[in-house]
Amino acid sequence: MSAEFFPFPEEPLGRVPQSCTWRREADPLGQVTLPSGDEVRLAVRFLDVEAVLTDPRFSRDLSKPGCPRLQSGADMSDDRDTLINMDPPRHSRVRKLLSRAFTVRNIEKLRPRVREIVQELVDGMLASPRPVDLMAALAEPLPMRVIAGILGVADSDLDKFRHWSYVAMSITPDMAQERVEGREEFFAYLLALIERHGREPGTDLLDTMIEASEDGDRLSGAELCDTARSLLLAGHETTMTSIGRGVFTLLRHPEQYAELVADPRLVPAAVEETLRYDFPADVGFLRVATEDVELPSGTVRRGEGVMPLISSAHADSKQFTDPEVFDIHRTDNAHIAFGKGPHYCIGGHLARVQLQEAYDVLVRTFPNLRLAVPAEEIVWKPDMMTHAIAELPLTW
Ligand code: HEM
Repeated sequence: MSAEFFPFPEEPLGRVPQSCTWRREADPLGQVTLPSGDEVRLAVRFLDVEAVLTDPRFSRDLSKPGCPRLQSGADMSDDRDTLINMDPPRHSRVRKLLSRAFTVRNIEKLRPRVREIVQELVDGMLASPRPVDLMAALAEPLPMRVIAGILGVADSDLDKFRHWSYVAMSITPDMAQERVEGREEFFAYLLALIERHGREPGTDLLDTMIEASEDGDRLSGAELCDTARSLLLAGHETTMTSIGRGVFTLLRHPEQYAELVADPRLVPAAVEETLRYDFPADVGFLRVATEDVELPSGTVRRGEGVMPLISSAHADSKQFTDPEVFDIHRTDNAHIAFGKGPHYCIGGHLARVQLQEAYDVLVRTFPNLRLAVPAEEIVWKPDMMTHAIAELPLTW
C-alpha cells in the first residue's frame, strides 16, 4: 500500500491538518507520497523539524538523478540559481552578498514607506462600499508593492508580477507549462531591469544587491535575476497569506482584537503569535539526506527525502503550551516561522514590518472591524504551496 498522499486535505478554518496530529504522536517521521509520486519522510515534531532545517547533512540540491521531487513537472527546485535551492559553499557566498541589502537597519529605513502604502490602501477601504475584501484591498497589494518598490519595478508592471508569482507557487500538474513560460518571461523582464539599473544606478535595494561585493566578488547577472525572482516568490505569497490569515484569526477572537484597539503597543506580540499559529504553508522545502542522519525521533537514511513541516512543529504540544489556542499574550513563543539555520528567511524582518504596520493601521482605523460572513464560509485557495484565504469580506 502506498503512503498517505501529501499535501493533506485542507482543514476547516485553515487549521493544521489532522494527519499531523496523529503523526506527531505515532509516526513522527512517517512516509508520504508527493504529487510527483515520490515517497519521502515527513518531519512533524518541533525538534525534528528544527534539526532538519539546521543540519548541513540535509541538502537542498535536488537536481541529482534519483533525488525526490515535489512535482513531476517543472517546479521551484529546478531553479539552480535560487538561494533556497543552493548548498554551501555557493549558498554561503550568495547569501553573504544578498544579506547586505536585508540588514535590519536597511529594512527599518523602508518602514515609513511601508506605512504610507498601508495607509493608502486602508484609505481605499474607507472609500469603498462595505463589505470590503481584505485580500484584494490590502493583503495582496501590500507585499507586491513593497517588493516591487525594492526592485524598482513600475506600478504599471504589477499585474505581470502578480501572474508570475501565482503560477510559480501553484502545485497542480496542469500548470506545469505555465510555470515554465512564466519563469522565462519573468527572467527576461528582470534581466532588462537589472541592465537598466546597471546603466543608471539608483538607491533601491536592487542597486544595493548589484553593488554588493566582497573581496571583488559580485552576484552574476543570472544570480541577480534568480535572486530577485526568489525575493518576489518568497516574499509575496507568504506575506499576503500571513496578513489575510492573521486578520481572520484576530477577528475570530474579537476580545483580542479589542485589546489591540485599546493598546496598539501589543501589535508586535500579536504579529509573532500570527506567525506561529497561522504559519502560511502546509508544505515545506524538501531536503535529501547526504548521509545517514540521527534525528530526535529516528534515523533518516542517506538518499532519503525529508520534508520539515513548520506548521505542524508550531502545533506541537511538547514545545508550546496549548498550541491550538491563539493567544497574543503567549510567552513561550519561540516559533520557527522564518526557519532556522543556513536558509533562515532573509526577508523575515521585512515581513514583520509589513505585518506590524498593517495591524497597527487597521486597529487604529477600524475599532469595530468584523467578518462580514460566518468564518466557516470563508473560501480558501486550493493547490498552492501556501495555504491562503481567497477572499476575506470585512465590515465595520
Ligand atoms: C510572513 C512572511 C514570510 C514567511 C513566513 C517566510 C518564511 C520563510 C522560511 C520558513 C524560510 C526557510 C525555508 C527553509 O529553510 O526550508 C524562508 C526563506 C527565505 N525567505 Fe522567507 N518568509 C516570509 C517572507 C519573506 C520575504 C518578505 C522575503 C523577501 C522579500 C523572503 C525571502 C526569503 C528568501 C530569499 C529565503 C531563502 C533564504 C536562503 O535560502 O538562504 N521571505 N522564508
